[in-house]
Amino acid sequence: MKPNVVLYKKIPADQLARLRQAFNLTEFDSITPDNHRAVLAALAQADGLIGASHPIGAQLLDAAPQLRAISTISVGYDQFSVPDLTRRGIVLMHTPGVLTETTADTIFTLILTSARRAIELAEWVKQGKWRRSIGEEYYGTDVNGKTIGILGMGRIGYAVAKRAFLGFGMPVIYYNDVANPQAETLLNARRRSLDQVLAEADFVCVVLPLLPETEKLIDYAQLAKMKSSAILINGSRGKIVNETDLIRALQEGVIRAAGLDVFEQEPLPVNSPLLTLPNVVALPHIGSATHETRHAMVVCAVDNLIAALAGDVTTNCVNPTALARH
Ligand code: DGY
Repeated sequence: MKPNVVLYKKIPADQLARLRQAFNLTEFDSITPDNHRAVLAALAQADGLIGASHPIGAQLLDAAPQLRAISTISVGYDQFSVPDLTRRGIVLMHTPGVLTETTADTIFTLILTSARRAIELAEWVKQGKWRRSIGEEYYGTDVNGKTIGILGMGRIGYAVAKRAFLGFGMPVIYYNDVANPQAETLLNARRRSLDQVLAEADFVCVVLPLLPETEKLIDYAQLAKMKSSAILINGSRGKIVNETDLIRALQEGVIRAAGLDVFEQEPLPVNSPLLTLPNVVALPHIGSATHETRHAMVVCAVDNLIAALAGDVTTNCVNPTALARH
């Protein structure tokens, strides 16, 4: 008998075919108030769950008494309570690795566009305002040679550091709970306290995971420790930065600018003051959003679910201790 699996995201046809072949699949494009009851009904028989971008909390899990594995099509797993899943014996699989370089590209896009005011000035050109050579009031700030401070030196932090050091000649400092010897040896990266990174960096890049201890880590007091010429980049999770405090810091000139791919609330509300600030580059959470990488993430997530439901997990498991309960 094939295991029962619930899919809650629209995925490419080739990967849908793989899921249909391996499992008895119940398909939803997403979880919405309209299909909530149908999702709960499907979960009653589910052995596996695969999807992304929706919180999976106690109500959904209570409806799924035989659930053994969840495969999230993302590297981040802040939509789940990992201790709760582990207690229930549910293995959580994710997709690290396949999106590292693409997400680092997005973070570098934010660094370059916010430093050089590229989005603001491209709009200005489109509005027909380019009548003569631009004046000093529209100058940006250099990226090359500036110090980059990276909060979080995992895979993505390393990929950002590699671009910064090898491509742009930027000294790298970082804040992380453990040292990254590869970054220190190959990229001359130096591990510092959070306060030191904030005070010394020209670009502060947030690439930490969202955890109880990182939620609202960057508030007004922390922003005030940055140079007034510095730029904050967030390519991780919006909730790591206190957004109200960030808006205030940007309005008051406490920091120069911000480049943001993530927000406390997504989609970003249309009345957010962030949208009226010229010194903010705001992207719609596109860290991994290329055709190639989004496809690779789905392939990885399908592989992960097949392995987990076959009792064959070797990699990409968030909570290996849950395996002991299978
Ligand atoms: C991830 O994979 O966690 C990306 O942020 C997309 O959600």
